[in-house]
Amino acid sequence: MVALSLACDPPSGPADAWDPAARALLAQVEQQDYRSWTELAVEGDSPHGAWSIIFTDATVDAAQMGEMGEMGEMAEMAESWPQGSTLVCEGRDQAESDTISLQIMQRDRGGWLWAQYDAAGEPLVYGTDSACGHCHAAGVDFVRSLTLP
Ligand code: HEC
Repeated sequence: MVALSLACDPPSGPADAWDPAARALLAQVEQQDYRSWTELAVEGDSPHGAWSIIFTDATVDAAQMGEMGEMGEMAEMAESWPQGSTLVCEGRDQAESDTISLQIMQRDRGGWLWAQYDAAGEPLVYGTDSACGHCHAAGVDFVRSLTLP
């Protein structure tokens, strides 16, 4: 299958060892119907698109509301997002236009797993130590558009 990359990043193909894992992560959030998650539209200032449509899973939503149950978890929560937190960001030219880039962040044992796909869903970036974190470090535990309680 030939896929055209619309992003500026060097195109990555099945030659990348992480390619199957990147596809599995996208399949996972699609299977969870991420577009039905809590949605936040940001007219942003990011490389993802003029608009970022951000979808947050139930773990992120609960953390934002400070619903953590255990006292220990709560204390830790004020500074970091819980294990498994998943955010999907669709970059678009306008709030209601087609998706031009797709980004996923998933909390992975104290760090973040970063993944990026082109408009056709072809993986471009995948891993815990990516260049994404450099810019995202300005956020709340690397999340740019949401805050913790
Ligand atoms: C030059 C800065 C910059 C870089 C590099 C960057 N981002 Fe972002 N990203 C942002 C900003 C700013 C937002 C907030 C929404 C907006 O303003 O569009 C954002 C939002 C996001 C979101 C939604 C959650 C949040 O933090 O608000 C995800 C997921 C995301 N980016 C993933 C990635 C991935 C994956 C990469 C690397 C492939 C990456 N980003 C690289 C600036 C950046």
